[in-house]
Amino acid sequence: MTKILAIDTSCDETSAAVTDNLSILSNIIWSQASLHTQYGGVLPSLAQREHKARIDFVIQKALTSAQCLMPNISAVAVTQGPGLAIALEVGISKAKELAIKYHKPLIAVNHIEGHLLSPLANFKFQISNFKFPALGLVISGGHTELIKINKIGDYEILTQTQDDALGEALDKAARMLGLGYPGGAILEKMAKLACLRRQGDPKSYALPLPMAGKEQDNYFSYSGLKTAFYRLVEKEKPLTKEKIYNLAVSFQSTAFRHLIRVSSLTIRSSAYSLVPSASLLVGGGVAANVEVRKRIRKMAKEFGIKALFPNSKKLYGDNAAMIGIAAYFKFQRKEFVKDIASLDRLPRFSISDIGI
Ligand code: KG4
Ligand code: ZN
Repeated sequence: MTKILAIDTSCDETSAAVTDNLSILSNIIWSQASLHTQYGGVLPSLAQREHKARIDFVIQKALTSAQCLMPNISAVAVTQGPGLAIALEVGISKAKELAIKYHKPLIAVNHIEGHLLSPLANFKFQISNFKFPALGLVISGGHTELIKINKIGDYEILTQTQDDALGEALDKAARMLGLGYPGGAILEKMAKLACLRRQGDPKSYALPLPMAGKEQDNYFSYSGLKTAFYRLVEKEKPLTKEKIYNLAVSFQSTAFRHLIRVSSLTIRSSAYSLVPSASLLVGGGVAANVEVRKRIRKMAKEFGIKALFPNSKKLYGDNAAMIGIAAYFKFQRKEFVKDIASLDRLPRFSISDIGI
């Protein structure tokens, strides 16, 4: 039994969780999203203030929900980065304080590794049966990365976005339509409503597919699509409900087509062969979208690989349980922070730099 108290304060969710090996005992998430809505994005100073105000309560709730006391914890884990510097700082200083006070080892976790390994939470199979190399796809508000997993803890980014992340692009598109923040889930709702009402034809507006015809440049790029969408929205004003449905569906569909096209090209052209029945681990807030999961599953099937997604809704967006899952593997490898007092935040921590 490896009970880990994990903390994540990388962006606008204050989260603490208790995990036991790959099981989740508690996963408390205090979202600040509604407070940031008026700014159309996350305001770092506000995020820091809210983390500071909530962190003790959230940690206490995670421990009581897991029916656990600090002395029973095997280690404390915390997100070191990437994320907002002054927000990361709050979780890191609290984790240091607890590790020192209760004489526990401290584990520093990369937030993207947390998203990547989130499908392994409550994993039903023996992890030793897992085949490597495997693939990973992280689609969040800040990252769009296709990753080669040589083994757990050893990652290479095969391709990533050159500008905006997929979630960021969805958020910006939703804002252009006056739908609020964070926009990914709202756009999905509009797209679903459009289908229910038999309105919202993804082909009603011709948006340019990013990087079309540039098969040699296998990377994601959403800024051109964003600009094209801005022009289209301006042209279509005043917006009626029907126009909003059609615009939302068109943007979402083009953004996902690009995700799948570049992922497929990269998997096909990457200079290694996948082992039969390899897995594709998929995590991040955008993966909560039913339509994107459907498209990813179809792509994986075409490559003869199996797409694995988190098995609960709370595991998609930012949460501390995924940090506990990543920390469990580090615990097994005894990768503890050597000098707890000097652990520093890494706001631009890349998953390919883990272990360097
Ligand atoms: O992983 P996450 O919670 O935070 C980051 O690490 O960035 O991802 C947040 C992103 C936001 O851009 C949000 O709009 C998007 O995930 N998102 C969605 C959905 N739910 C959240 N995008 C599409 N469909 C959803 N249902
Ligand atoms: Zn995240």
